[in-house]
Amino acid sequence: MNHYQPEVLISSEEIELRITDLAKAISKDYEDKELVFLCVLKGAFIFCSDLMKKVSLPVSVEFISLSSYGDGMKSSGQITTDMDITGNVAGKDVLIVEDIVDSGLTINFLKSKLREKGAESIKVASLLHKPGKQKFATDIDYLAFEIEDKFVIGYGLDYAGRYREIPYIGVLNAGQ
Ligand code: PRP
Repeated sequence: MNHYQPEVLISSEEIELRITDLAKAISKDYEDKELVFLCVLKGAFIFCSDLMKKVSLPVSVEFISLSSYGDGMKSSGQITTDMDITGNVAGKDVLIVEDIVDSGLTINFLKSKLREKGAESIKVASLLHKPGKQKFATDIDYLAFEIEDKFVIGYGLDYAGRYREIPYIGVLNAGQ
């Protein structure tokens, strides 16, 4: 079976360079603190692990699994919690780690959940942001790339569960 190789939007090398920049900024901002990475599954698992490896701080990681896209190309507008955070985030400095901020719904949902759980501080790191699609105001404290409104896959991002293993950000063309 031939492996689908989508058009490259952002190469692996570009991703690595930006992650190095973000990791430096995070390490500086959280100096002398213990940071909790909240990895938003499934899409953020590759970005989260690459970012963690480059941060020079003691970090711990928590996971939450959310979905709003189902198998389609558009957000349903409804967030489903497939797996909730298992650890204690009360009194902790939490960095939400996302693969993409699109409408902003997921980030807003997560911020209120973390506030309810008593997090000391909440910031956001995202690999991608589609400003053209944003409906809900949210700040992204550490952003790697702003992109146009194209359906992107690879580096953790999927279409109907596929293509997450592609090592760069590619564009899904209609008919694939
Ligand atoms: C994607 C992505 C974000 C969210 C962003 O998740 O990983 O969590 O959508 O969209 P929003 O800003 O409009 O809320 P998806 O539902 O595709 O699940 P997945 O990460 O498991 O692929």
